[in-house]
Amino acid sequence: MDLEMKTLCEPEGVEVNTQPFVLIIFGGGGDLSQKKLLPALYNLFKLDKLNNDAYILSYGRRERTQDQYRELVKTSIERSLQGGKASIEDSFLEKFNYLSGDSEKLEGIDEINKYICKFKDIKKYQIIFYLATPPNLAENILNLIQKLELCDKPFKKKIVMEKPFGIDTVSAINLNDNLHKIFEEEEIYRIDHYLGKETVQNILFFRFGNSIFEPLWNRSFIDHIQITVAENIGIETRGNFYEKAGVLKDIIQNHMMQLIALVAMEPPANFEADCVRDEKVKIFKSISIMSEEYMEENLVLGQYGTGKISGENVVEYRDEKNVDKDSNTGTFFSGKFHVDNWRWAGVPFYVRSGKRLDRKLTEIVIVFKTPPLKLFGNACRDMLANELVFSIQPEEKISLSINMKYPGVENYPHPVEMNFNYSKLDTISLTAYERLIVDCIKGDLTLFSRQDGVEEMWRVLDPIVAYFNKINFKFPNYSAGAWGPVKSKILLEKDGRKWRI
Ligand code: BG6
Repeated sequence: MDLEMKTLCEPEGVEVNTQPFVLIIFGGGGDLSQKKLLPALYNLFKLDKLNNDAYILSYGRRERTQDQYRELVKTSIERSLQGGKASIEDSFLEKFNYLSGDSEKLEGIDEINKYICKFKDIKKYQIIFYLATPPNLAENILNLIQKLELCDKPFKKKIVMEKPFGIDTVSAINLNDNLHKIFEEEEIYRIDHYLGKETVQNILFFRFGNSIFEPLWNRSFIDHIQITVAENIGIETRGNFYEKAGVLKDIIQNHMMQLIALVAMEPPANFEADCVRDEKVKIFKSISIMSEEYMEENLVLGQYGTGKISGENVVEYRDEKNVDKDSNTGTFFSGKFHVDNWRWAGVPFYVRSGKRLDRKLTEIVIVFKTPPLKLFGNACRDMLANELVFSIQPEEKISLSINMKYPGVENYPHPVEMNFNYSKLDTISLTAYERLIVDCIKGDLTLFSRQDGVEEMWRVLDPIVAYFNKINFKFPNYSAGAWGPVKSKILLEKDGRKWRI
């Protein structure tokens, strides 16, 4: 059963503030820039959502000429288009300049100043600093930014900070203090690209734009919740970063916590940035801190071994580039979380995430309680619980499973699905990074994290990280292409439940 979108009113086209800007990307040649940022800028350009007066200065450690950097921009975009070569317009490539330097040695200050000063009417531009770099470089880069003379000039300035913001609570607080020496809170965009995904935003629309689900959205009707952020890719070229971050700091502290908050939060007073963020912070605060005994029973850490992905043999994590041969870093995590508030007390949130799993799959499953009576006496099968699934990847889709009578004389209940698939819509939706870049230019902070939220997320994660750090794991403990260690399956089975996939 498919659901179609009815057009009751023509939505007005998204008004994009195409204010002129100068974007200074630190880590402009890095993995994140190549995979997400540069393709997003190009798509915005193609959709005519970038002002003609948009200029980008990329800063990176590696020596490159302007031409070499523009070639890198081109190949990154071509790779993202997956269709091989594309003719990337020169007018786009000419927006880019490259500066090589080592932020630790504060190199490049004069060059950045000169670059900015050459714009005639500098006041009409906003300057956006983008830290597409691992957390350990943030302090150096902030020192460098603080020394730029341009910070005393009267233009609008902003900073985008990639996740993870810090590496624990203490470092997140220090980083924030340093940021505030240069930027006001409303100039700080702590990015988590999951919040820019269309289906992720739709969780709030679905919950608070309909009156039929919200009355059921609580411990009386919901049995449990499952959240999966699975990838089949390994760590690719990011060994240096990943060894320090692991799945806990790369995904659970940020993307996963945000997904939990969107499912669990109360309706905000309005849809303004601070009201939405206030509600999310309340959820982070309600997530109970786990004791070691609890963690031993209810959390699973894994690391991938060799195996097959899409029919191809792949190496184990410890054989990846820039990874320690005895690495204890987790590439898989699953666990049972609790949101201890009035609405959710007693409802488990099972979460899992990992690299080199069976497939790419991001989904949230709301599993409702089964009906109180097994009324259909002749039924030979159990009735399945109603499940509401927010599929975020690979498809953007929402589906609801309900039980119907299977035609015939027998009383067979049979589950059917109602589906709404975004791909069926005849509209262009922005990818997560495109949406968030636009929001940053416009000055809309709703989809960005606030400092108190970041600290609360670390408050939950710090004890988990500390607990796992004490254990000397016998890794690898799952084969590439599986769904993580067997213990992750048992985690649900011992509660009489199972992962949807
Ligand atoms: C990033 C992580 O934040 O998200 C990566 O650093 C991960 O390790 C990526 O691969 C997944 O993003 P997406 O949008 O492909 O699910």
